Amino acid sequence: MAKVPFCGIHKKRKHKMTRKVSITDGEFELFQKMLISEAGLRFYKDRTDSLCYVLDERIKKRGLASAREYYDFLKYNSDGSVELQTLLDLVTIGETYFFRNKPHFDALVNFILPEIIKKKENTPAKSIRIWSAGCSKGDEAYSIAISLRELLPSYKDWNISILATDLNRNVLRDAKNAVYRKKDIASFPEKYLTKYFSEEGNNYVLDESVKKMVNVKYHNLAKDPFALEEMKNLDIIFCRNVTIYFDLETTRTVINGFYDRLLKDGYLFIGHSETLWKITNRFETIEFPRTFIYKKTLHPVEEIEAKPFMGIPSIDLDEIIHEETLVTEEPKEKEVPAETVMSKNKGSILYVKAAKLFREKKYQEAFLAFDEVIKLDKNHIDSHFAKAVILANRSEYEDATKELKKIIKTDNLYLEAYYLLGVLAHKTGDLTEAENRFRKCVYIDPGMVLAYFNLGNIYLYEKRLAKATREFNNAIRLLEGKPKEEPIKFCEDFTADFLLRACRNNLLEIGAGNDR
Ligand SMILES: C[S@@+](CC[C@H](N)C(=O)[O-])C[C@H]1O[C@@H](n2cnc3c(N)ncnc32)[C@H](O)[C@@H]1O
Repeated sequence: MAKVPFCGIHKKRKHKMTRKVSITDGEFELFQKMLISEAGLRFYKDRTDSLCYVLDERIKKRGLASAREYYDFLKYNSDGSVELQTLLDLVTIGETYFFRNKPHFDALVNFILPEIIKKKENTPAKSIRIWSAGCSKGDEAYSIAISLRELLPSYKDWNISILATDLNRNVLRDAKNAVYRKKDIASFPEKYLTKYFSEEGNNYVLDESVKKMVNVKYHNLAKDPFALEEMKNLDIIFCRNVTIYFDLETTRTVINGFYDRLLKDGYLFIGHSETLWKITNRFETIEFPRTFIYKKTLHPVEEIEAKPFMGIPSIDLDEIIHEETLVTEEPKEKEVPAETVMSKNKGSILYVKAAKLFREKKYQEAFLAFDEVIKLDKNHIDSHFAKAVILANRSEYEDATKELKKIIKTDNLYLEAYYLLGVLAHKTGDLTEAENRFRKCVYIDPGMVLAYFNLGNIYLYEKRLAKATREFNNAIRLLEGKPKEEPIKFCEDFTADFLLRACRNNLLEIGAGNDR
């Protein structure tokens, strides 16, 4: 394959731009596979540039001539594992701050910790066990420790274990030092600042008594067993803004590992834009003011309990069978060749068979059957759509996107295709594309409430708060006119009432200054 200048320019470091070592698509794939197997890290469109930038830097640092040499070095050289760790230190993103996501900490302090304290205060062990997984510089774990201190003045009488783990050695060093610059603690409530920090020059140094409450350790969630002593019998796990970078399989394994280590009724905090939908149904979603937290349950819950905010749409194939794809009549007019109608008839029979397999959840067989239909009629849009849904559910987003683009070439008002294109663009990090696709949905169907809701979420994520507010209000206006129990188009697990509450919560959050 020809070498192409695959890498773009790292956005934040444009000024340092130098010519990049070229990396073919195939080589990039190799690095991608390695990073998934070593750390679960998947690089979608929005982050390929930064990965390429780091690869480029390391190739030069090691004095190697090409991406392939660097790959072989990582894989076969005796220093390969050392270099791999350096690479992981560079490609992981450690953005964090104290008391991140205020509604989470409000739920922790006002409801969850008091519940745990009440349950355990009369037990001999009086233990509270918490894990901040993917802790970055420790802000999350120390915020938890401070919250506990505020709630439990007699904290020394308790057996408190707070474990903070990460695989990035640089952030772990910072977490252990617990020395912060002014800007790091901008979100810190003033009242705690003087109580728990001392000012040293331009820095704030965390009080030794808080530091001692937190055990900072190296741990790779994707590779290492969950075997540390502090990982047993947990009351709460925080793993926020970590699995967002993982591939689906790693996320599943990690979340199941968390499940096993939590006590019955233990709580799992995940990030704002993370979801357990399609990951597990072994947690219940508990609604707290302006947020949802997951609770371990011993009985699997209905999918509705986990919130698929931007999931692959649930598709009712019966609803999308378009009449014109079901030709059954004999050829009448001379200008329509008999073979065409016959092959359309055959296609219709095959389509009904394929749709049946799909409904029976025999997806691989259904996929092949839809392919057969397309062989007879390459513009059979419903078969393309069904194939796209199957591919999307297998996380084969690129192929799914290709199928969908074929559809809109034939029918540029096929709402379901635009919607799924929007979801896939969002999943692969292309928010501009996602925004355009959802815009098209509301153009085709101004009553498409889920598209407004998704637009609102995109703007909220991008901190375009006025636009987010407008979209959530659009959704609310529509939802208020619906019966509470009405299922939402493309997400039948949602009722109008559930989505209405989610929109209102988001508006409250915007009012409260978003994530802080
Ligand atoms: C964006 S930070 C989130 C920090 C904190 N949880 C928060 O929400 O503020 C993500 C952290 O996950 C860590 N991380 C990424 N992959 C990991 C893995 N496989 N094992 C452990 N930590 C990982 C990164 O090093 C980074 O520090």
